[in-house]
Parts: sequence; structure tokens; C-alpha cells
Amino acid sequence: MDHFLYRNGALHAEDVPVATMAAEVGTPFYCYSTATFERHFTVFQDGLKALDPLICYAVKANSNLAVLKTLARLGAGADVVSEGEYRRALAAGIPGQRIIFSGVGKTRDELRFALENDVRQINVESEPELEALNDVALSMGTRAPVSMRVNPDVDAQTHEKISTGKAENKFGIAFDDAPAIYAKAAAMAGIEVVGVDMHIGSQLTNLEPFREAYTRMRDLVERLEAAGIPIPRLDIGGGLGVPYERTNSIPPLPTDYGKVVSEVFEGWEDREFECEPGRLIAANAGVLVAKVVYVKHAGDRRFLILDAAMNDLIRPALYDAWHDIEPVVEAEPGAELFAYDVVGPICESGDTFAKARMLPELKPGDLVAFRSAGAYGAVMSSEYNTRPPAPEVIVKGEEFAIARPRLTYDDMLGKDCIPEWLTEQT
Ligand code: LLP
Repeated sequence: MDHFLYRNGALHAEDVPVATMAAEVGTPFYCYSTATFERHFTVFQDGLKALDPLICYAVKANSNLAVLKTLARLGAGADVVSEGEYRRALAAGIPGQRIIFSGVGKTRDELRFALENDVRQINVESEPELEALNDVALSMGTRAPVSMRVNPDVDAQTHEKISTGKAENKFGIAFDDAPAIYAKAAAMAGIEVVGVDMHIGSQLTNLEPFREAYTRMRDLVERLEAAGIPIPRLDIGGGLGVPYERTNSIPPLPTDYGKVVSEVFEGWEDREFECEPGRLIAANAGVLVAKVVYVKHAGDRRFLILDAAMNDLIRPALYDAWHDIEPVVEAEPGAELFAYDVVGPICESGDTFAKARMLPELKPGDLVAFRSAGAYGAVMSSEYNTRPPAPEVIVKGEEFAIARPRLTYDDMLGKDCIPEWLTEQT
């Protein structure tokens, strides 16, 4: 459930009309709902309460500081994949002891930064990374807390670009190599083995791949412990999917997911569990609001040309992702629907949000909202075509505030530097 609802025919974010914000900040813009973030976090926590995990929100999904602070207040930790994300988590008040550092290519500098900032755990993804981390820790006279990310070779049954737990994916150490690498890690003076980690992909709508991966994880932990390597922590990753097509999809609920986890780990309740959800917390807590610039009729096609583009929301272009599109002024019941190709102004055909989408008649100046845009939306935006990325607004009850302003053209042009040889007169 989310807090973007029509009231008297006008789409609201909590108690604020979306049109009011559009008039104030201009379009396109992202709009987040505090109550929805809070609700998703709490529902997820409740679903897993049997294991009482530390929920380390995957910062990559939406790293706006206002969002991170909202979640930090609820007790969230953070899963980060770069020094930049680590710095964001710290800036939002999440202490190092609640930060997990994941990622396949952490540099020595990033590893050092994490150790200097009291990291809870580093999820190591390869033997060379383990060696580098050992060196860095020894040079600092410390020991690095490590979980190894193990690749269980399970098909997550999701889009190939966001599937991470198959042997052919670049992530984690191969399942069969894990015992030997753990033995090596346990013998390193700069490494303290604290756990095991898995993340098999994103937008999973079937729970069976989770069950399969977690069962492999449990078996591995038993083997490691039989070999004398204690594994007190289990990081079970993120990846639970959300309903993008709300009229037509029923993804598993956090309680169903929690049931699978509890079944697999029955009797293991005294261990420390961690999880890294991103999309589940953030996706349906945000919308992208855009304005119709033109409606173009070409043969029997209708193009709805918006002022938002793939530089603002790249998911449809990159993953053929579906986002529900709703007019900000609710259509009359029974209003006729038309098939629109919904596009942005960028100069490539990939700048298409939806084809033949059934919508009520829309005119230039009308507003539409892309649903489920709170995760992997603003964070993946760019300045392509020298377009200022959509700003971010956060709502709480009747209040709203700008959480990231729109860049000005001067901001954008001012980032470039002209080399001296081009400033000389010729
Ligand atoms: N932990 C790790 C190590 C991850 O790599 C990810 C996501 C997560 C947690 C969070 O997964 P989630 O709960 O959000 O599914 N840009 C893509 C999604 C990429 C996900 C990458 N890893 C999209 O827009 O669909």
C-alpha cells in the first residue's frame, strides 16, 4: 500500500495535491512519500520478525539524504556499494556499525575508508579482494570484519540484467570454492570472518529461488562450522520484487517471504540475520511527475510527448520496465481510453516509456505520474542531452520540501573546465 491516492479527483501524495507541488517546483520532478517509506520498512520488518534481522537498506535504490534520514530514524542500517554511498549513509546519521559494504570492485582506498569508519562488515566478493583487504587491514593494525558473498548458482527468474546469483554472473565467489576461501580467510591475520552473504538478484516475484539459495547457504554454513569456522551472521540479501503493474500483478508479500526464510532457518533464530532490501522499501514510495508537451498524431498512432525523458527515468529503456502511468486529474468513470506511445524529448527511439498504453485523453499541459519510481529512478538519472535531471521533493503529511533542487543551466555548464590551450586567442 502507498500514499499516492486520488482525493476528489486529484492525485495526492499524502495530504498534498501533486498539482500544487508541480506548480511550485515545475516539472518533471520526483515526489516521495515519507509515510510510504515508513510503512514499507515496518511491513518488511514485521514480515521477518521471527528472525529479527538488521535491515540494511540498499542505498543504491534511492540515496537521497532525506530518504536515508527517514529510514535511519526507523533504525535502518545501510548496504552500500561505494565510498560515496558510505559517505551518504554516515551523513544521514547511520553509524558504521550498521553499514555493510558490498560490491564486486571495491578499491583499496574504499576498503580503507570503510575500516576507518567502523564498518560493520565487508562483503568480500573474490579472493583478490580478500587479499587486498587483508593487506589494508594489516597496514592499519586492525582486522576487517568479513562476510564472503557466495554465488549459489541459482536462477532468480528475473530480468537478465538484474540477475546476480548464477555462476555466469560476475558476483560473489563460486559456491564450490567457498570452503577453501573461507579456510584461507580464517587463517589471515587481518581478517575476522563474521558471516556469509548472498544476493541472487533484484525484482524477484517468485519465492522459490530464495528458498533454494537460502537452503544452499544453510548447508554451507553447516559445512564451514563442521570445519571449525564459526559463522555467526547470515546476510540474506535483498531482491524481493514489487508490483509495477498494479492492476495485474501480485508479487509475494513480505510475510510470505518471511515465512520462507523462517522455514529454511528454523532453529537458527539465535544467529544474527541481516538483509539488504532496496526496491521493496523505495519503489512504491515515489512517483515521477511529468507534463504533456505535445500530443502528436502520426497515422493511427498517438504519441504523448512528455517533458520527462530517459535521462530522468531510464528503467523502461534499459530493462523494458513497466511503470504504471496515471493522469494527475483522475479520469471520469467510464471515460474512453486511447492507446498512446508515451515518449520523452530525447533524440533516440529508446526514449520511450511505454507503447500503446491505454490512457484517457490527455492534452498539452496535463500532468501524469509514473508510479513505482522511488527506487532506481532519480539515482540512475543523468544530464544526457544537457537536461537538468528531475529534482526530488519529499512529502510528510501536509508538508513538502525540496530534497534535491533542479540544477540550473549554469550549474551544469559550470562543471566543465576549458583547457588553457582553448582559452588562448588564435
Ligand atoms: N544488495 C546488493 C548486494 C545488491 O546488489 C542489490 C541490488 C540490493 C541489495 C538491493 O536489491 P533490491 O532489494 O533493490 O532488489 N537498477 C535495477 C536494479 C539493480 C539492482 C542491483 N542490486 C532496476 O532498476 O531494476
